[in-house]
This record gives sequence, structure tokens and C-alpha cells, in this order.
Amino acid sequence: MPDDLVNLTIDGVAVSVPKGTLVIEAAKQAGVLVPHYCYHPGLAVAGVCRMCLVDIEKAPKLQIACATQVAEGMVVRTQSAQAKSGRMGVLELLLINHPLDCPICDQAGECELQDFTFQEGRPATRYSPDYAKRFNPVEDFGPDVLYVPNRCILCTRCVRFMEDVAKEPVLNVSERGDRAYIGIHSEGRLDHPWAGNVVDLCPVGSLLSKDFLHKARAWELDKAASICTGCSQGCNITLDTRENVVVRVRPRSNLEVNRYFICDHGRMNYRWMNRGDRIEAPLVRRGSELHATDWDEAFDVVASRLRGAGGKAVALVSPKASTEALHFARELCRGLEWSGAFQLVMGEEAPLAGVPSLALRAERAPNRRGAELLGYGQDYAAAVAAAETASLVLVLDEPDISVRTAGALIYVGTVLPEGARDAQVVLPIANVAEEEGTFVNRDGRVQRYFQAKVAPGMARPAWWVFSELVATLNGGGHVGTAAEAFDRLAASVEAFRGLSYSRLGFAGASV
Ligand code: SF4
Ligand code: SF4
Ligand code: FES
Repeated sequence: MPDDLVNLTIDGVAVSVPKGTLVIEAAKQAGVLVPHYCYHPGLAVAGVCRMCLVDIEKAPKLQIACATQVAEGMVVRTQSAQAKSGRMGVLELLLINHPLDCPICDQAGECELQDFTFQEGRPATRYSPDYAKRFNPVEDFGPDVLYVPNRCILCTRCVRFMEDVAKEPVLNVSERGDRAYIGIHSEGRLDHPWAGNVVDLCPVGSLLSKDFLHKARAWELDKAASICTGCSQGCNITLDTRENVVVRVRPRSNLEVNRYFICDHGRMNYRWMNRGDRIEAPLVRRGSELHATDWDEAFDVVASRLRGAGGKAVALVSPKASTEALHFARELCRGLEWSGAFQLVMGEEAPLAGVPSLALRAERAPNRRGAELLGYGQDYAAAVAAAETASLVLVLDEPDISVRTAGALIYVGTVLPEGARDAQVVLPIANVAEEEGTFVNRDGRVQRYFQAKVAPGMARPAWWVFSELVATLNGGGHVGTAAEAFDRLAASVEAFRGLSYSRLGFAGASV
């Protein structure tokens, strides 16, 4: 066993962890979650809430697991009578001034104060019903953050995030003792581009998102692992849906990409996923009008245009399309003189100062790198010019199109923009929340996103649409799942060789 591993037991379970590991982290390896409030793996240790008290053999009194490092031969007991009584006492003090407003609190159902009180707390209060709890009015802290001081347990996670991670120290602990509350600088606002993380970090319902306020109860939400489409950073997120509507975006931890955080631009970038004006059926041109049809006829019309066609094919694609869709779109043009391009939307860059290599990137494109690896270029104007004389022009999900062509225009998208009304065929596709697929972030990390809601009408994932067209034209079998689509891509494109969809898992892998 390497010298830098330390052996200890936690609740009778033997674990070996690297020297310097905190007892609270070592306990996770033993399958033990030590109750805690101020501790968060993405923040500096503060040791202020005392909720993580544990019994350590030979120590004269209870220790806090979040600030105690492991030692060789250490014996930790989280369930001894002394440890349980210590934590019960801490909870009793935390609840002195905490209001009983769980029925109207946004955090109810995902509140750590509820959870640990249920798990560890006293069955009944010892306080008189006449005791007047501390009261402070709700404060507006910033564009998307409300502070409800009555619920605050003064864990200081929000203060430490703004000070150490965002490097904009606008919050502090004002007053002391039972009068303490979180204060905001008299001229400050929580309007930092990454400020919304304080809402996720707050273990109780004290910091709330205005955007999510009273939208849903936690137990009504379905959750799906996804990837933010706001820029090329590729932050890992969870999409919360209620009755097939995306209502909230939250960070999903990935230490290689975004640690525990997302920026406010990404957090708010979800309303378009719920658009109601969607194309719900394939449309084919008959005379001057587009008519709804089924997939078989739509595929036949496209195939008849492509069969035997020569000359140029131009693909104008979105860098928000999945890697699989971009791959099969290119496969469809095989045999033609092909060119493909995407348009980059740029915005302001906003780094998170305390986390190296994490920033809201200027390129608002989640799959720019994937498109490049598949041969698409950035000379969009040249591709639009080439479209004029092409025999086939494919447009994938590109809402601002303005293209003229003498050939066949096939538009594949979620909504029908004005510029696509001249198309010969329109094929409806799912948006990122409605399908599975992958993006490649700016650092070359291939990451999977999962389906969060159902696509409207007959809309299908773009990779399915293109792979069916390829099968209709060239044979080669149908592609039934995103896994098959990715594995076919990995088998035929050098940059992706050796990767497999199942091995990408939830954390992704580098090309
Ligand atoms: S507002 Fe929330 S995160 Fe900030 S100190 Fe209070 S409980 Fe902790
Ligand atoms: S940095 Fe980019 S990928 Fe990450 S949350 Fe913000 S917009 Fe989304
Ligand atoms: S979690 Fe250990 S003292 Fe707060």
C-alpha cells in the first residue's frame, strides 16, 4: 500500500484514503454521510456550524469532521450516543429562530435543515410557544437573488463563495450572536455573472432564485443530466422539468469542467426549450405550399432529390447541434462535392476568478469543437455564397437563415423561420432537452446529455432524421439509439476513435 495512504475505520468500516483527507470526505468512502451545513467541497473550510460533530477514539471531546484530517489507526464513530446527542443539540439551537414556514418555502423537499432535523433532531421542541422568534424582512440582494434572513442558519457558504470564488466580497456576517444576519455591502448587489450559485449553495431556503420562486415544489420535479448550451465551456447541468416544461437549470458537479458551479447566463438559458411554436410534422412542398406529411413520404422526397444528384452540397449547420447529427448530416452528402459551415454568435467573456479555466466563454456555441472535428468550417459567408449554385442545401437548426439556391433546400429544425419557407422539405427535430446526444466542449471533452422532456408531435432527434435518410439512400441499417449513433461516429471518424457512448458516462472523456 502506498505510503501516502492513511488507514482508519468509520462506523466499523475500514477505509484507506490519501494523507490530508478530511474525515467528512473519508466517511463518504465508507458510505457514511456526516450531517453538515457550512462544509462544501467547493469552498474553503469554515467549521462554523458544528453540525458535523463525530466521536473520535482517544480525542477528549467531539470533533468536527469537516476540519479534522484523517490519521493512521483513527477510529471514528458517527452514531455513538455522545455524537448523536451533540448534533441534536446543534440542531436545537439552529431551530430556535428558524420559522416553521416549510409549507411556503421554495427549499422544502430539498432542504438540508428538514432532512437532518428529520434524521437527527428532537422529536419535540423544548421552547415555549410564546417565544417570539427573531424577525427580519426579506431583502432583494440582486437581479435573481432574494434573502430571507429568518431562515438563515449563518453557515457562511454564500459569503465564502462571493469572497473566495467569485472574488467579489459583497456579502458579510453582520451583527453577532442571535442578531447575526448576512449583510450586503451598502453599494453592492449580487449581480456578479456567477452570483446565482449562492442559491444552490444555501443549504436552507434563505437565498432564493426569483426566477424559480413558487414555480414548483421540489417533489414535483423530474431531473435529467444535461450539458449547458450557453457557451463552449460545456458546464454540466441538471434540467428540472415539471409536467414536460423545463422550470430550472442547476449545476451538476464535474471537477474537470465546472466543478460545482454554473454562470447566470447558462442558468437562465432554458426558456427557448419550452417554445410552443414548434414544427410538429414533416412538411413537403406541393406547388407553392408546404403540406404536412408522414416521415416515410418526407424521406422519399429527399431521397429522390439526392439519388443520382451530382455537383455541390452545402450544409449550413448550428454549433448547437449534437455531434451525432452533424456526423450523419455529413454522411448524407457523401459522394457530392461537400462544404459545411456554422455561424458563431459571440458575447462577453465572464471568468469565475477563483476557478482556473472556468469562464462564460465568448463563443456562445456548445459544439463548435465537435463541428470542427467533423470538418465543418467557420466561413459561413462563403458557404452561403456556394449554396446559390449547389444542388443540395441542408440547413440544420439554424434560426437566422437567409439563403438562396437553385438546388433543393432541405430545412431541418425545431421552428420554421421566414427564411426557410422556400424549402422543398422541412423536417421537425427535437431540441436539446428532448433528445440524447453529445457535445464536444472547447477543451475537447466529449460529454453526453440526456432527455429531459418529450418532443412535440412527430419531432425526432436530428441524428435519427439524418441517419434514416442515409439508410434510405445508401442502406447500411437503421440507427435506433443515441448510443448506436455515437458508436458509429466513433468507428468512422479518426478524432473519436476508441471512445464509446457507454464509457463516456456522466463525466465525459477527452478526444
Ligand atoms: S443565506 Fe444561506 S448560504 Fe448564506 S449563510 Fe445563510 S444559510 Fe448559509
Ligand atoms: S459558462 Fe457557459 S456552459 Fe457554463 S453555465 Fe455558463 S453559459 Fe453554460
Ligand atoms: S460542517 Fe463541520 S462545522 Fe459545519
